[in-house]
Amino acid sequence: MRLILLGAPGAGKGTQARFICERFDIVQISTGDMLRAAVKEGNELGLRVKEIMSAGQLVSDDLIIELVRERIAQPDCANGFLFDGFPRTIVQADALKEAGIDLDHVLEIHVADEEIINRLSGRRVHPGSGRVYHVDNQPPLQADIDNETGEPLIQREDDREETVRHRLEVYHDQTEPLIAYYQQWQEQAPEQAPAFHRIEGVGSVEDIRAQVIEALSS
Ligand code: AP5
Ligand code: ZN
Repeated sequence: MRLILLGAPGAGKGTQARFICERFDIVQISTGDMLRAAVKEGNELGLRVKEIMSAGQLVSDDLIIELVRERIAQPDCANGFLFDGFPRTIVQADALKEAGIDLDHVLEIHVADEEIINRLSGRRVHPGSGRVYHVDNQPPLQADIDNETGEPLIQREDDREETVRHRLEVYHDQTEPLIAYYQQWQEQAPEQAPAFHRIEGVGSVEDIRAQVIEALSS
């Protein structure tokens, strides 16, 4: 299976991606995680994108398209993959279409802006595994902390409130148009286009997981 998870920052893409990938035995391709790994490593790519990411801006389309092109050519993608955080602009979506990558589903997780601010200010990440928690909604189990690398949970640099507000603006401006893009494609060419689904992303993580799995199994 190949699919795109669409949604605002903090909509729960990363949280649901883990379940979907386990369930369907596919790999998660999170452009955000790939870029953060490069920043942590301090390599050339990391140095180029560090400031852009901490300001909540988008990295250039060319760079992202190249990164994804290389990633999906890897052997572990043969059974399918899930894009988390890609495409994020019409240019990126067009590049994917032109590359002839067939997709089965586009799934939008919709969450209102006010809820996003609350979620992201409480988000904590385990840097060793990439696991995501929330101080109130999804507190980490002690076992998760003990069994892994022993690294403390961290707050992402772009999760400061004013940066989150900016990321939301960027989302509404540049990424939200992709919803109409995929809906129209489905209307015009239902045979070729991926199936579009929308899920309300407010409720327990388990409830949303059940809705996601149902949509993808239809
Ligand atoms: P990226 O890493 O993709 O960030 P994002 O899209 O802003 O999304 P987030 O990771 O913040 O949120 P999420 O939807 O994964 O939510 P999560 O599951 O963690 O991108 C970061 C940056 O990289 C961009 O700003 C840009 O600079 C660059 N970039 C990446 N891709 C790019 C591209 N294609 N083009 C250009 N630039 C690119 O959940 C959030 C919180 O909510 C957690 O604390 C979680 O525990 C909690 N939570 C989850 N579900 C629920 C629930 N149901 N109820 C309550 N709380 C919940
Ligand atoms: Zn994420």
